[in-house]
Amino acid sequence: MENISRTKIVDLLKRTDFGAMVNVKGWVRTRRGSKQVNFVALNDGSTINNVQIVVDVANFDEEMLKLITTGACLSVNGELVESVGSGQAAEIQAREIEVLGTCDNTYPLQKKGHSMEFLREIAHLRPRTNTFGAVYRIRHNMAMAIHNFFHQKGFFYFNAPIITASDCEGAGQMFQVTTMNLYDLKKDENGSIIYDDDFFGKQASLTVSGQLEGELAATALGAIYTFGPTFRAENSNTPRHLAEFWMVEPEVAFADLAELMNLEEEFIKFCVNWALEHCKDDLEFLNKMVDKGLIERLQSVVKADFVRLPYTEGIKILEEAIAKGRKFEFPVYWGCDLASEHERFLVEEHFQKPVIMTDYPKEIKAFYMKQNEDGKTVQGTDVLFPQIGEIIGGSVREESYDKLMTRIKELDIPMKDMWWYLDTRKYGTCPHAGFGLGFERLLLFVTGMTNIRDVIPFPRTPRNAEF
Ligand code: 4AD
Ligand code: MG
Repeated sequence: MENISRTKIVDLLKRTDFGAMVNVKGWVRTRRGSKQVNFVALNDGSTINNVQIVVDVANFDEEMLKLITTGACLSVNGELVESVGSGQAAEIQAREIEVLGTCDNTYPLQKKGHSMEFLREIAHLRPRTNTFGAVYRIRHNMAMAIHNFFHQKGFFYFNAPIITASDCEGAGQMFQVTTMNLYDLKKDENGSIIYDDDFFGKQASLTVSGQLEGELAATALGAIYTFGPTFRAENSNTPRHLAEFWMVEPEVAFADLAELMNLEEEFIKFCVNWALEHCKDDLEFLNKMVDKGLIERLQSVVKADFVRLPYTEGIKILEEAIAKGRKFEFPVYWGCDLASEHERFLVEEHFQKPVIMTDYPKEIKAFYMKQNEDGKTVQGTDVLFPQIGEIIGGSVREESYDKLMTRIKELDIPMKDMWWYLDTRKYGTCPHAGFGLGFERLLLFVTGMTNIRDVIPFPRTPRNAEF
């Protein structure tokens, strides 16, 4: 075969230099046609769009043509021609075809229209479908949006450790990391495991959040963000929970509650806008095939002013709705942790806009949140989104050493692993605030997919770690 340098299909479809000789490589999506002429739709992952290869049957070896089946990998040399019927501006009149990889009829992606459940069982092949190709390209673009947003605002990308000895959220949902022989554990006279001989010489786990290390960095570099995998051993089998998910956690010195909320709102709008600008073809596909209201919803969020709602007022609205006959599965009272049905009522029915809820009862929030004067509430914020519920959790941090210590003691948080965190309050403490955005929750919103297992390549959930 003549050696012509490869053009990615995304670039090829924009070309208008008809008559040029080109090479494309990719996987066959479909093949149709007559005895005289075949049309092969080829995709190389660079775009949702296929390029149409026109094959004059008489010019090619019969045995080779038999190998052009759905899923096969081809290299094609041919002439770039203006297309009349393929839905694209350009197509390729094939001159030479090499089958790089054959694909027999055991290939599970023969036909279109597989269920999401089935595709989860073949997560190693699902990136080759239109839907998952679109989702993973958008996932990449959202990561770029995140880095761009913070870089342009002068935040530094800071890497928190994945293995840690502290439980940031204090919720005890950590996966333990050990090299000890689990069949032969050394224990003391009380039956407690002795960790001296474990790899780290102490009990260690996978991080649930990079926040504590992020706070150290913010009180030195001013403004930082972390972006990495986090792990939660919570046994929640829901369409919004993963055991391994990615979190973006900015932390800003000298920011107060209003500045925190502004940052949350500006950040999400930037990301959604980025998707609208950079992922047009993929969004149009998802809008057509997955969720007809998707693009409109994305546009409306970019335009909306997010509602800022103290928890106490939110409870009042919910109680009024209940008095008028609205039914919820879980009870509503001051002090309750809102369920996703309550959050979605506020966002989707009552305000019909994203809501930033603030000033939660301290009992339902983490130890590090700044306490209000009332002694009952803390300066925590949750950003609540249509379809998703909570997409961001954040807060102003308690900067007073004494108040923080009192809270740590009240909640019985193991102090010996926290000494380094408390040093931020001991040495030049400062007001600061930050938040965590669940990357896959953002992707659920941006793609219109309904199950979080379908916006991460290899989902980790209770009783599932295949692939
Ligand atoms: O509200 P969370 O637990 O807050 C924190 O971890 C703080 N330390 C963040 C901070 O202030 N720096 O989690 C933050 C976000 C949630 O709003 C949600 O979007 C996502 O992380 N999240 C999950 N996403 C997928 N699966 C799970 N199991 C998640 N748990 C939280
Ligand atoms: Mg939360």
